[in-house]
Amino acid sequence: MANHLVSGGTDGVGRVVALDALANGHHVVVVGSTQAKGDAFLTAADQVGASGRATFLCADLRLMSENSRVVDAVRARFDRLDRLVLCAQRYLTRLGHTVEGVERNFALTYLSRFALTYGLLPHLRRADRALVVNVCGTGTPAGRIRWDDLQFRAGGGGLRALAQAGRATDLLGVAFARRPDTRDIPYVLFNPDVVRTNLQRELGYPWRLFALAALTLRGKPVEAGVAPLLRLLADPPAERLSAFRGTRPVRMTSRLLAPGYDPSDAARLHAETERLLSGMGRVDLLP
Ligand SMILES: NC(=O)c1ccc[n+]([C@@H]2O[C@H](COP(=O)([O-])OP(=O)(O)OC[C@H]3O[C@@H](n4cnc5c(N)ncnc54)[C@H](OP(=O)(O)O)[C@@H]3O)[C@@H](O)[C@H]2O)c1
Repeated sequence: MANHLVSGGTDGVGRVVALDALANGHHVVVVGSTQAKGDAFLTAADQVGASGRATFLCADLRLMSENSRVVDAVRARFDRLDRLVLCAQRYLTRLGHTVEGVERNFALTYLSRFALTYGLLPHLRRADRALVVNVCGTGTPAGRIRWDDLQFRAGGGGLRALAQAGRATDLLGVAFARRPDTRDIPYVLFNPDVVRTNLQRELGYPWRLFALAALTLRGKPVEAGVAPLLRLLADPPAERLSAFRGTRPVRMTSRLLAPGYDPSDAARLHAETERLLSGMGRVDLLP
């Protein structure tokens, strides 16, 4: 029996992952920001006789204070963590900041994933064959890090902030896989490709129309999009870092994509992030 944490496990991709883990006899903690979705998840767990193995934590993962609370709760619930599956996401194309002063896409797509990963690293290290899966948009060349203004304080397009957050989450995987203390923990960047979930609902126009068109033309049922991810969770890759778009491996060294997985950018972003979290008084979320 393995211990799973699935952020964003109350809907879409994460919910399918979490219910599959329960069906396979594992212990699962899911995190989402809507109580009703969490209650529905617990009801589904009850219906398959798994209520004793299912936990829902209601938290707004955009806030680092909430990530700290989740990390503490998972540490209290599990003595080790075998699978960390990072799915919590909401695409925002209107620029805005959290009450903690972090650009909102950066906060959820990147900083929360950093916080959960490193806040729980000692627990991951205690498992025999731990695995971290970052479910994201990997394999696209879009997105640049705005090094002189990571939080978009000077303004600028919300779409750029969204794309920056996607780039940052890829770099999180690159930096993780280069650390000596994560040697035994493979890290997978997984893009489910276009699957029919609610993810696009808060996109502004015209992006929402493009997303709906893509869903109509190419959208797969969520179970089909998640199937390759379930195989990776059951049988983790040997490589320290790998990336997939559906069933296809992403060639991270290709000329088009390599700049997005640049190790020096990854190290620089990691250092900036340590500074940011220290400045927020969140040293509990640092490696
Ligand atoms: N769907 C696609 O076509 C597609 C394509 C490429 C990549 N992906 C990636 O797949 C991952 C999962 O997306 P999805 O399609 O499954 O999305 P989804 O169906 O919208 O599910 C998102 C999950 O994140 C949770 N969440 C959102 N904001 C949160 C917050 N502030 N705090 C805590 N939890 C929060 C949601 O719960 P609440 O609503 O209760 O907060 C929900 O459980 C994302 O990382 C996305 O980038 C998806």
